[in-house]
Amino acid sequence: MSESPAEYFRIRPGAPLEGEIKVSGATKNSGLKQLAAAILAPGVSVFHNMPPVLDATVMIEVMRALGARVEWVGPETLEVDTGGDLVPEAPYELVSKMRASVNVLGPLLGRCGSARVALPGGDAIGSRRLDMHLRGLEAMGAEAHIEHGFIEARASALRGARIVLEFPSVGATENLLTAAVLAKGKTVIDNAAREPEITALSAYLTRMGAQITGAGTSTIEVDGVDELVPVEAELMADRIEAGTLLMACGIAGGEISLIGPRLEHIEMLTLKLGAMGMKVSPTADGIWAFSRGRPNAVDIATLPHPGFATDFMPTAVSLAAVSCGSAIITENLFDGRFGFVAELCRMGADIRTEGRHAVVRGVPRLSGCPVRATDVRAGAALVLAGLAAEGETEVHDVVHVDRGYRDLPGALAALGADITRVNG
Ligand code: EPU
Repeated sequence: MSESPAEYFRIRPGAPLEGEIKVSGATKNSGLKQLAAAILAPGVSVFHNMPPVLDATVMIEVMRALGARVEWVGPETLEVDTGGDLVPEAPYELVSKMRASVNVLGPLLGRCGSARVALPGGDAIGSRRLDMHLRGLEAMGAEAHIEHGFIEARASALRGARIVLEFPSVGATENLLTAAVLAKGKTVIDNAAREPEITALSAYLTRMGAQITGAGTSTIEVDGVDELVPVEAELMADRIEAGTLLMACGIAGGEISLIGPRLEHIEMLTLKLGAMGMKVSPTADGIWAFSRGRPNAVDIATLPHPGFATDFMPTAVSLAAVSCGSAIITENLFDGRFGFVAELCRMGADIRTEGRHAVVRGVPRLSGCPVRATDVRAGAALVLAGLAAEGETEVHDVVHVDRGYRDLPGALAALGADITRVNG
């Protein structure tokens, strides 16, 4: 999706949401990890149901910089050829634009025996360290250190090891899993992340010939194999987009059906939405939801999966902002994810933050005004707030929203919301 920096979303309060919509493929948090893993299998890999969100554009540039040939061969189908010689260096100009590009570290080390990947640095949601990635690779026999702003890693032959993660980091689990599949012998990753995106990555690697058990649990075991073969992959539905649309229904009211997502991928969110007064249930091909009136205030604390996902925290704050009562929202994963709260307060929300906590006192109605998105989920939170605000809300800096959502305003408009993308 291309756009001019001056583009913004204009939102006016409207009728309750209604209708059925297909949820997009999970490009940002799932597909791009699989694209990086395609480095492990020389040849042509194909990804279907991969909408071209802005972060895909950056990852494609990273893959091309490494020497892969990457091309869109359909509106949502990407083909990558990693058959040629690769240059195992991911430059700062690209990595600094998108953290997921750090996911090339494990695959490059597995395929080329060395990797030089720029350090992405912190971003709008926190400091985001990479120490567990490096310690895990060292346990597998790599020499890994940080020098002149780059992660430099080298291993003549990675060997299996037992690795206990200090925290179930999604990125560290992914990098270690992709390093382990071609290592000599058995790797055990303990306290591994259990997010559905890890299960999807493992399933993809298994189809390429990897030997993996336990993905989706806290202990993943990998028996290294000599080679992997390229395959065609189909991305799962984006559970974050699904959850965002459910919360939009919670804030605007209405009845919606989502095609594609699996309720068990976002179960803690749906339990909380139930406690807020919504009805949410699984259907044969997705999720159905119904909401009427203001939500009840419910306390939330983010945790690794299957806990309440941090990526739903900002939109949950928007829901709490118009709820009946007060809620305490606690962010346990990232140290700077409340930056968007000041924008919500400009819309009339009553929120106080203190360290990891936000105390949100619900108000009956917000009031529309121009606001700025600071990151992808913060932008979605402001869009949802606009659905419950009197007058007109303008969400600016929507480039952040388009990094991860295929077309959030389009999806909401298809459900009857009064929202348009305006070329400023
Ligand atoms: N951490 C460390 N050391 C490490 C790795 C992580 O201290 O070596 C800390 C981080 O600083 C952070 C916490 O552990 O405080 C969690 O980080 P994790 O590694 O789990 O997150 P990530 O892999 O960097 C992915 C998603 C995020 C999502 C988190 C948690 C992608 C591209 N990003 O990030 O998505 O919030 O997992 O589920 O998959 C988003 O979509 O908006 C987003 C930020």
